[in-house]
Amino acid sequence: MFESKSHITVNPQGNLALGGVDLVKLVDRHSTPLYVYDEQRIRQRYREFKEAFEKYYGDVEVFYACKANSNLAILHILRQEEAGVDILSEGELYLTLLAGIRPEKIIFTGNNKTDKELEKALKVGVTINLDSLHELDRLIRITEREKLRAKVSFRVNPEVSPETHPYLSTGLKESKFGIHENVILDGYKKAKEAEFLDIVGIHMHIGSQITKTSPYEVATARLFDIIGRIKNNLGIELEFADLGGGVGIEYKEAQEIITPEDLAKAIVPIINEKIKEYSLKKPELIFEPGRFIVGDAGIMLTRVSTVKSTPYKKFIGCDSGFHVLLRPVIYSAYHEVIVANKPDEKPQEIVDIAGNVCESGDILARDRKLPTIEKGDVLAFLDSGAYGFIMASQYNSRPRPAEVLVSQEGAELIRQVEDFSSLIEKQLIPERLMKE
Ligand code: LLP
Repeated sequence: MFESKSHITVNPQGNLALGGVDLVKLVDRHSTPLYVYDEQRIRQRYREFKEAFEKYYGDVEVFYACKANSNLAILHILRQEEAGVDILSEGELYLTLLAGIRPEKIIFTGNNKTDKELEKALKVGVTINLDSLHELDRLIRITEREKLRAKVSFRVNPEVSPETHPYLSTGLKESKFGIHENVILDGYKKAKEAEFLDIVGIHMHIGSQITKTSPYEVATARLFDIIGRIKNNLGIELEFADLGGGVGIEYKEAQEIITPEDLAKAIVPIINEKIKEYSLKKPELIFEPGRFIVGDAGIMLTRVSTVKSTPYKKFIGCDSGFHVLLRPVIYSAYHEVIVANKPDEKPQEIVDIAGNVCESGDILARDRKLPTIEKGDVLAFLDSGAYGFIMASQYNSRPRPAEVLVSQEGAELIRQVEDFSSLIEKQLIPERLMKE
C-alpha cells in the first residue's frame, strides 16, 4: 500500500495523483519523461519555513535558492509569496528579474564571480555577497570606475561539517567557499573604508541535505561571534545575518530529518544569547532554502520500455536516465520509486531501474522491491522538484523533457518538451565541411 502524503495520493481510479491530478492520465497527454510540480505544496513549504522563524525570532526573510529549480512559473509563485531569491549567476539574475523579483529581494552569492557579473549585479542594485577578498578588491575598483554604490555582505567559511554527502558540504575548512575567520575582519575593514560600499550583512551556507540541527548550532554560534567582533573591533552593525539553506528532506521513508521549526528552536536561543552578549542591534535573519521548498513538490515520471532479466539481475529499463535525473548517479542519491499506475500493488521482486544512457553507471534506483513491472508502466521518482530538471542535459542527444504545474486549475504546461531542433540550436557548420 502506498502511504499517501498530503499532496501525493492514490485516486479512486487506483492511480498516483499529485495535487489531485492523475499522473497516469497526465503522461498519456504529454510525453515521458516528464517533470510535474505541485503549486500548493511549494506555497505551503515556503510558508512553513517562514512561519517557523517568525514564531521563534520575528524578523525573517526567506530567499529561495533558485539553483534548485529556476523555472519561471516557480519563480512567479515565490514572488507572489513575497519571497526573496538567492542567485549565483547572471543567468539566474536574468530569470529572477524577469519573474518580477525586486533587486532588494535578491542576494548574489556564488563563487568566482567575474568582473562582468559583479558589474551587472552592481548596476541592477542587488546585494553582492562576496566570496573572497579578491572579489572585494575587484568590486571596489568597479564601483569607483562606475561611481555606483554597492550593497555588500561577506560569505564566511565557518569550518563546520554539515554531516552530509561530501559533494554537498560547503563550509568545511578545506572548502572552496567563503572567507575564513582569520581574514574576514580585514574584508569588513576594507569595505568600510571603501567610498562606494555599503556593508549590509554577513552570510554562511554550510551545505545541503542537512538532517541534524547540531551543525547549524555550531556554525551559527561562530557566525554570531564574528558579528560580535565586527561590531566591537570595527563599529559596524549589520542589518542581516544570512544563514544559508541546506535543510534536508525525507527522500527515504523514516529517515532522520529536521523541520524548520526544529531548526528555529535549536538556533534562535543561540542567536538571542549572542545578541545579548555583544549588545547587537537585532539583525534580520535570512534563510536560503532551495530543496526544502521545491524538493518534495516535484515528481519525475518515466515510462517502462524494456524488462530484461540477466542471470544476475532484473533490470527495468525506462525512457529516462541520468540526463533527466542526475542525482542518483552523482550523489548515489535515493529517490523513492512508485509505479504510478499500480501504486497499491504488493511489492514482488527486487529490481534495478536502468536508465537509457549508454553508460553502465546509469542506474536510477538499485535493488528496489517493487510490484511486477511491465512495459508501459509509469514510474514516479518522488522528491525530484529540486536539482532535477535544472541538472538535466541533452547527453546522448536526447531533448530535455517538459515540465507541468498542477494546481486547482488542473495541469498547466510550464515548459514545452524540447524537440530535435533544440539539439542543433546555436550550432554552426563551417562552409568547407558542407562540401562534397
Ligand atoms: N545557498 C547557497 C549559497 C547554496 O550554495 C545552496 C545550494 C543553497 C543556498 C540551497 O541549498 P538547499 O536548501 O537546496 O540545500 N545538486 C545538489 C545540491 C547542491 C546544492 C548547492 N548549493 C543535489 O542535487 O543534492
